[in-house]
Parts: sequence; structure tokens; C-alpha cells
Amino acid sequence: LSEREFKGNVRHLEMSRYIDLDIYHAVEKTHPYYVEMIDKINDLLSGLGAGSKPLSIWGFGAGTGLATSELTKFASLAIDALDLDAECCDILMREVGNEANVIQGDAVKHQKEGGYDLAISVFAHDHIPYELGPALARNIRRNLKSGGHYVMGGEILPRYCGEDERREALYRYHGFIVEKALRDEHFEVAQIEINALKSGLYSIGDFKRHAELFESEMSSAGLVLKERAKIGPEHRDDVGGVYVYVYQAP
Ligand SMILES: C[S@@+](CC[C@H](N)C(=O)[O-])C[C@H]1O[C@@H](n2cnc3c(N)ncnc32)[C@H](O)[C@@H]1O
Repeated sequence: LSEREFKGNVRHLEMSRYIDLDIYHAVEKTHPYYVEMIDKINDLLSGLGAGSKPLSIWGFGAGTGLATSELTKFASLAIDALDLDAECCDILMREVGNEANVIQGDAVKHQKEGGYDLAISVFAHDHIPYELGPALARNIRRNLKSGGHYVMGGEILPRYCGEDERREALYRYHGFIVEKALRDEHFEVAQIEINALKSGLYSIGDFKRHAELFESEMSSAGLVLKERAKIGPEHRDDVGGVYVYVYQAP
């Protein structure tokens, strides 16, 4: 896969431009609420039939395969794991290449004939630039069979309006998460979150949304909200948080 070409002769890179992938892979599960989010996603997927009948699933922004490796534990799940970044795809091949079909491609453009029963992203939906949000939502719908579900595990900012408030919302969310990671003594993930804050402030690769913005992009594509669960923090409603959403294609 290391010689795989994408967009002409360019080995396309995204997350590997601004995050050390080996460190990310080693520590990301210590991100506050990550494990609880994965538990919730696993429960939801079981409820949608994963593990009890043959289903196809499209995981985009698969990164280094942390969430994809969870999917491989479900029996009879045909997994397409897609990422834009060639370096991530190399790691995906190493981590889940035997159990998943690794695809280097763009989540906004990927198309599977016949569609998937399920689509999923974990900490990846907000790596798609704001201006491509509606196109991503439309492409998720296009890739789902009628009645299929999209599960999104990700980070949601407190409500903001305009660029100054967006920056403030990023400081509030990441400030909270960095402090929690530090107090949990997960120093490496705190460092990754500082880099993610910088990447969001300078719009390098993090395009976190507030709930209304995310939900309006999804509903504009005709996807129907079935469930929204806040994973954490439980007792703060001013910093955003880690959420799991479930949408259904009509
Ligand atoms: C934070 S990582 C995802 C982490 C991973 N899902 C996990 O479970 O740990 C976000 C990923 O989205 C990928 N990405 C960014 N833009 C993309 C696009 N347009 N299409 C597909 N993947 C994209 C990045 O390369 C990166 O690997």
C-alpha cells in the first residue's frame, strides 16, 4: 500500500501533517470519554443488528484503526475502512488489513454501489472542512441503503456565532479536555489536544462544530435524527463535549 497513488501521483496526507501517528495510536484511547464513547457505540451497533446478521459498514476517517479494530469484533460485519491519508492507510493495513477492506479515499466523494447498511465515524466527522460539511452529509446519505444508519462519535463545541466566538468555543472545549487529561495524568493525550486546539484555531485540520450546525448539516441531507447521547462531561453544559449521534437514511 505504501506505493498507492491517490489524486494523480500524490501520496495524499491529512492527519499525518500535524499529528505524530505513532503517539496518537498509542495514547488516543486515554482521551477523556473515548472508552465510554466506544462502549456506547458498540451497544448501538449491536442494537442495529451488528454481530447477529450479515451487515456492511463504511467507516470513514479510520485513522490508525482504533475504532475499526472494535468493529472487527462483530461477527459477519463487512468493513470498508477509508482514510484520505496515505500514512494512516499504511497503519490501517498493519492493524486491521486482515479483517477490513482498507481504502485510501475521500469521505466526501467515496461511493459504493448498492450502499451500506451502516456508516460510522469516530473523531473524524469534524476533520472535514466547514464548507464541505453539507456535501459530506449528502454523501453519507448516498452511501446508505434506505433505512441504513450513520453513527457519529465525536466532539461538539458549545454554541458559537461568528469567528471570534468559534475561537472562544475551541478554547473552552479544549481547555476543559486538556485539564481533565492532565488531572487524569494522561500527559501525552493532553499534548495531542493542545495540537488539536491549534489545528482548530488555524483551520488546519480540525473543524469542530456546535450541535445546531452539525444537526442542520445532517438534516439538510434528509438524514433523520434517531438518537443523541452526551457521553461527557456529565455536569458541565458550557464546554461542549463528546457525543454519539445516530441518523437514519429515509
Ligand atoms: C482523528 S482521526 C480518526 C481517528 C480514528 N477514527 C480512531 O478511531 O481513532 C481523523 C481522520 O480523518 C481523516 N480524514 C480527514 N479528511 C478526510 C477525508 N476527506 N476523507 C477521509 N478521511 C479523512 C484523517 O486523515 C484522520 O486519519
